[in-house]
Amino acid sequence: MIFFKKIKKIELKTDIHSHLLPGIDDGVKTIDESLLLIKEYINLGYKKLIITPHVMYDSYNNSTDLILEKINYLKNECFKNNLNIELEVSAEYNFDEEFVERIEKNDLLPINKKYILFEFSFYQKPVNYENIIFKLKSKGYIPILAHPERYRYFDLEDFKSLKELEVMFQCNIISSIGFYGKTPQKKFKELAKNKMIDFLGSDVHSFNYMEALKISFNSSSFNRLVSNLHIKNSYL
Ligand SMILES: [Fe+2]
Repeated sequence: MIFFKKIKKIELKTDIHSHLLPGIDDGVKTIDESLLLIKEYINLGYKKLIITPHVMYDSYNNSTDLILEKINYLKNECFKNNLNIELEVSAEYNFDEEFVERIEKNDLLPINKKYILFEFSFYQKPVNYENIIFKLKSKGYIPILAHPERYRYFDLEDFKSLKELEVMFQCNIISSIGFYGKTPQKKFKELAKNKMIDFLGSDVHSFNYMEALKISFNSSSFNRLVSNLHIKNSYL
């Protein structure tokens, strides 16, 4: 008789990446949508959400003040609607010219005063990214790369170089079930097998992402892949 080891489902109390502030990026559009999605996170067992709107020079040029204004509004609405969950705000910084300016001006919204979530372009491999990462680190920040599995131009050697620069990796849970296609799914697996994943994020923009998130948590392959990893979401 063959015995299969039962895989324990991962429980994440903290989410580190989502687009739930209404109307400021390509995420949720209305406050009602935000509240409905937050209810779903509560049903999934989350106790804390770190919301990370895009900050992107050419499309979502959100100021720190606007982001803070929006999170206060959302916190208030959650309170009024008896949604009991801790909300924090940070941003998903695009790796562009303005990001460098923001680092220089100390105009950033770090997670826990030190972690900075950033993303690269999906189309072009970044050049000279080492200098900007050094700049961030010299200011005392710890860089977290959002969804490394989604950059098709990166291979395992690139991932190793980024790790040597002490960049932490946040993978999207829904990549594991092929939400973004086969290549990101394969890269998620590779990163998991090489124990390179530090954080798991939802990156929810709308309801279809939430449906994919629920499917992922029930998927045995996802739970098997992450079962031996040291996921650090609870540090945040
Ligand atoms: Fe995102």
